[in-house]
Amino acid sequence: MGGAEKSSHYGALGADPGCKDCHVPQGLGNFHLALWTHIYDGSRAVLAEMMYDYSTIEKFNERRPIMAHYARMSLKNWDSVTCRDCHKNTKPPGASAKAAHQKMETEGATCIDCHQNLVHKKVPESDLNASLAQGMMVLKESNKKTEEEED
Ligand code: HEC
Ligand code: HEC
Ligand code: HEC
Repeated sequence: MGGAEKSSHYGALGADPGCKDCHVPQGLGNFHLALWTHIYDGSRAVLAEMMYDYSTIEKFNERRPIMAHYARMSLKNWDSVTCRDCHKNTKPPGASAKAAHQKMETEGATCIDCHQNLVHKKVPESDLNASLAQGMMVLKESNKKTEEEED
């Protein structure tokens, strides 16, 4: 996938993370989530398609922003459990990062609320709490600012 090799997710581990490490909850403890993913989550079908039929990539690019949003919403709904499987105890250096991570206790924030555009081609960031509340994709205010600055 475009740009994936630039993330520090690639090269830091002995073996690079596979698609499923982030996209499919694994293990007995996550059995209900894995099952849920299997039955309800369209992204699983998309994953299979992407891995075996590269001719779909062009068609897919048009749908990338909304698919990214769906992938984020899955992670939001799982409390980013696949991220937590690897990142068991995040203690980022710096006061502002510590304050941000504190929001996981105080505001029910989860990794994907803040860490978006992690390994794939960048698309506008989603405001996941607002999206949940409104039942539709709501983008972060910060996207608009960046676009204005670029003009
Ligand atoms: C297979 C294990 C694994 C999974 C799954 C995983 N990570 Fe990582 N992540 C790493 C490793 C290894 C690094 C690089 C070393 C480090 O910074 O700890 C890293 C780096 C990061 C970084 C810092 C550098 C960067 O690329 O921005 C962030 C933020 C991050 N991960 C968030 C996440 C989030 C959010 C998820 C879930 C969507 C996730 N990770 C899933 C292993 C993993
Ligand atoms: C409320 C926002 C917020 C949440 C929630 C959050 N983070 Fe962070 N995180 C930050 C900020 C801000 C930083 C510091 C700046 C940066 O590196 O992006 C940071 C830093 C990090 C780093 C170190 C990055 C580096 O370059 O060294 C990792 C790894 C990381 N977070 C992983 C996670 C994981 C995993 C979760 C969920 C368990 C999570 N974060 C939840 C905002 C958040
Ligand atoms: C380190 C975690 C991680 C790994 C590894 C990973 N993804 Fe993703 N993926 C995400 C996140 C997070 C999103 C949501 C978009 C965003 O903010 O990055 C996403 C979004 C997607 C999307 C929606 C469209 C898009 O481009 O955003 C597809 C399709 C996808 N991933 C497929 C894959 C495939 C195929 C692989 C293996 C080659 C893979 N992913 C590996 C974290 C990961």
